[in-house]
Amino acid sequence: MKVLIDQEKIRLGITELGEKLNGQYGPEPITVVAIMTGSLVMLADLIRCLEMPLRISLIRASSYRGGTSAGDLHVEEIERLDIQDRDVLLIDDIFDTGKTLLEVSERLKILNPRSLKTAVFLNKQGTSRVQLKPDHSVFQIPNEFVVGYGLDYDDYYRNLPYVAVLEPSDLEQHHQASR
Ligand code: IMP
Ligand code: MG
Repeated sequence: MKVLIDQEKIRLGITELGEKLNGQYGPEPITVVAIMTGSLVMLADLIRCLEMPLRISLIRASSYRGGTSAGDLHVEEIERLDIQDRDVLLIDDIFDTGKTLLEVSERLKILNPRSLKTAVFLNKQGTSRVQLKPDHSVFQIPNEFVVGYGLDYDDYYRNLPYVAVLEPSDLEQHHQASR
């Protein structure tokens, strides 16, 4: 496995995003809406860098069906969110085609938040298929399939404290070990 972004770089990147958000939002309360399960680790680290009062809402979206190719997007639990007139920060693990962030953003807007901003941990270069751009990206990465820091392959590897590129030999090993 090839490490793309190590632990220290991640710590610095998240801290920097936190400081930026502290400056932009000021002392007003915000609601962080996090797309599970991929943004779990980013959520835990980022909120500890934020100084304003905040609430957290978790929603589930899955666009990948146990592999590295895209399937249909399913979004759950969005209708029950109480975000009317609130400043919402939507976070996700990675912006790839952008369809997840676009679809979730559209569905959040229907609930009339006061403002809606988006922040992603990773932004893949050259893969976007939508007009929307995330307001904040912690890291830009090349178009490779990555795991770790919340990102999964087949629901595994989310616990790696760094971001790594999954190579063919890793896939072979994975399929033998997780059977
Ligand atoms: P999008 O809708 O194509 O932007 O895909 C976003 C979702 O796809 C993310 O929330 C991830 O769950 C998943 N995804 C996209 N690229 C990767 C990757 O390189 N590794 C792991 N998951 C990925
Ligand atoms: Mg995922």
